[in-house]
Amino acid sequence: MSLLIRTEQALSTHFEHAAGVGAPSRLVAAMRHAVFSGGARIRPQLCMAVAAACGDNAPTLTDAAAVSLELMHCASLVHDDMPAFDNADFRRGRPSVHKAFSEPLALLAGDGLIVMAYRVMLLAGAQHAERLVALMDNLTQGVGLPDGIVAGQAWECETSADLGQYQRAKTGALFVSATRAGALSCGHAPEPWTPLGAYLGEAYQVADDIRDVIADAASLGKPVGQDVLHARPSSAQTLGLEGAIAHFDHLIDQASASIPACSYRDMLCQLVQHEAERLVPKALCEGYFNAHPMGATVHVSAPH
Ligand code: IPE
Ligand code: IPE
Ligand code: MG
Ligand code: MG
Repeated sequence: MSLLIRTEQALSTHFEHAAGVGAPSRLVAAMRHAVFSGGARIRPQLCMAVAAACGDNAPTLTDAAAVSLELMHCASLVHDDMPAFDNADFRRGRPSVHKAFSEPLALLAGDGLIVMAYRVMLLAGAQHAERLVALMDNLTQGVGLPDGIVAGQAWECETSADLGQYQRAKTGALFVSATRAGALSCGHAPEPWTPLGAYLGEAYQVADDIRDVIADAASLGKPVGQDVLHARPSSAQTLGLEGAIAHFDHLIDQASASIPACSYRDMLCQLVQHEAERLVPKALCEGYFNAHPMGATVHVSAPH
C-alpha cells in the first residue's frame, strides 16, 4: 500500500472515530471540508516513511501520529486563511472554510481539529504509554511555543522578524515533529531524524515563497502574490528569486545528506527528490525566467 493511501485510510478512520456521534452537523462538515480536500499529505507520509525505516513495530500508533500531524496542519490552514490572518478565499482549489461555512465555524473547526489531533493520539496510545508521552510532547513542540506554528504565525505580528526563525517555526517545526514522530512511534530515539525534518521543512517554506511569486493560483489552488500583499517576510523578497531557488536547492541537498544510514535510505532520498521537483518544478522556473528576463536578478518588492 502506498503511504498516501495509508494516510487517507487512517485519516478517514480516525476522523470518524474521534468526531463521535451527535456533534453539530455544520461544525463537523466544516472540519471535513478542512481535512478531506486533496492536501499533499506530506507530513503524515514523512512520519510513516521514517517509521518504516525504524521497523514500524507499532503501526497503529504510527498511523495515529501521522493523522494527528495532518489534523494540526489542516487546523493551521483554516486559521491562516481567515480574515484576521491572510484573508484567503481559496485553499486546495476550493473555497476556504470561512468562505464556505462562516467565520465562527472556521474558528471552531480549527479549534476542533487541534483538540481532535490530541484525542486521536490518546485513543491510540493506551498500549504504549511511554511512547505516547513522548509523541504528545513532540506534537506540542511542532505546534506551540516557543518555536512551533503558533509562534511562527505570531512573528507576523512583531515589528521585525528573522526570516529563518519565522520560517522554521511557521513551517519547519511540524516537519521536524513529523520525522521525529516516525521514530518515536517505534520506540526509537528521534534525534537522528531531526535534521531531515528541519531541512525539508525550511525548504518547504522557501518553496512556498518562490511559488507565491512564479506560480499561478489555478495550479496552486490558493491565492498567489500574498507575501507582497501582506508585507510578510519572504525568501523571494530577501534573497531575490534566483537566490531563493539556490537556497531551496541547497536545503534539499542537505535534507538528503542528513538521512541516517539504513535500508530505507534510498527510498527516503527518492521521496525528498520527488518532493523537490513537485514543489519547485525546474520547467516552471525556466518558463518564468524566460518570460521575465530581469526576474533572475531583481528582488521582488511591494507595490507603492
Ligand atoms: C501549505 O502546506 C502551507 C505551508 C506551510 C507552506 P502544504 O503545501 O503542505 O499544503 P497542502 O496540505 O498540500 O494543502
Ligand atoms: C502558512 O503559511 C503556514 C501555516 C502555518 C498555516 P503561509 O500563509 O505562507 O502559507 P499559504 O501560502 O497560505 O499556504
Ligand atoms: Mg500565512
Ligand atoms: Mg496563508
